[in-house]
Amino acid sequence: MKHLLHLKDYSADDIKQIIHKAIDIKKNQAHYGEVLKNKTMIMLFQKGSTRTRLSFEAGMTQLGGHAIFVDQKTTQFALTDFKDEIKAVMRYADILMFRAVKFADVQIAADQNMVPVIDACSEKYHPCQTLGDLLTMAEHAGGLEKIKKIAWLSIENNVLNTLKLACAKLGIDVYVASPKVHEISVDEELNKIAEDTGHVHKTSDLAEAVKDADFIHTDTWLDMEFYKDGQVNPEFKNEYDERIKLFKPYQINADMINKFAPQAKIMHCMPCHIGYEITRDAVDHPNSVIFDQAENRLHAQKAAILYLLGK
Ligand code: CP
Repeated sequence: MKHLLHLKDYSADDIKQIIHKAIDIKKNQAHYGEVLKNKTMIMLFQKGSTRTRLSFEAGMTQLGGHAIFVDQKTTQFALTDFKDEIKAVMRYADILMFRAVKFADVQIAADQNMVPVIDACSEKYHPCQTLGDLLTMAEHAGGLEKIKKIAWLSIENNVLNTLKLACAKLGIDVYVASPKVHEISVDEELNKIAEDTGHVHKTSDLAEAVKDADFIHTDTWLDMEFYKDGQVNPEFKNEYDERIKLFKPYQINADMINKFAPQAKIMHCMPCHIGYEITRDAVDHPNSVIFDQAENRLHAQKAAILYLLGK
């Protein structure tokens, strides 16, 4: 049974197949309106979401199926063994989409091989974001094969993991300019697969990272755990201040783009933290494709669902 977890087990051809399908689905939506008739996706969330929830739910509707949103806080998971409860959940589903605090729980679900399981952003991976990003870059570059170089200017995290792996497999150079690794996101095996391709390059030189890049990506430097009721949690104040100092030189703003990379499209998986990793003038810059990127989660995930269900 196929799952969508970390892309380590996906070949370049598998990834291309999903992206080409996504392009077709986006162009010919009407052809796909009944393809998942009577199929149910269960969407289990242990964390908040805007894009992931809405794009999966809308996607299942558009494919003729149904999606059930489950906020774990409103369930009985806390009262019992996770494996038993997730096995019961999957008895109602044709496919499971799971936004988990810990990837280990996604793996437990997938290991049952009851239905295809999608990691919808754990601490280690975000394959759905990667597929949406690849679709966006393919559209703006004029094809996947036209993407030659991307840059990443944020903390090394879950979003970067799957993005750099997929790009490296596709022969795209990934320049990572990042002063910090998010320790809980590290997957040494994934790093080795990506680095062995020769397409992952690390530099602390911003100008080198973005020079001739087709796309420049960023993401939050500041974990949601840093905040409590909209304010910085005093427990994380020192780490918060340190990250701002460390990462400010890597901020995406209009001046930086205009000076070092006027050719590059600007990407952010959202939500954007304006004034931190990105400025308002970068979000609204003519080079910004951030809202296409958000929309393309929908089309790419529809293709991934069909791929996993063998449709
Ligand atoms: N990019 C992303 O996954 O957005 P959400 O957290 O809003 O789902």
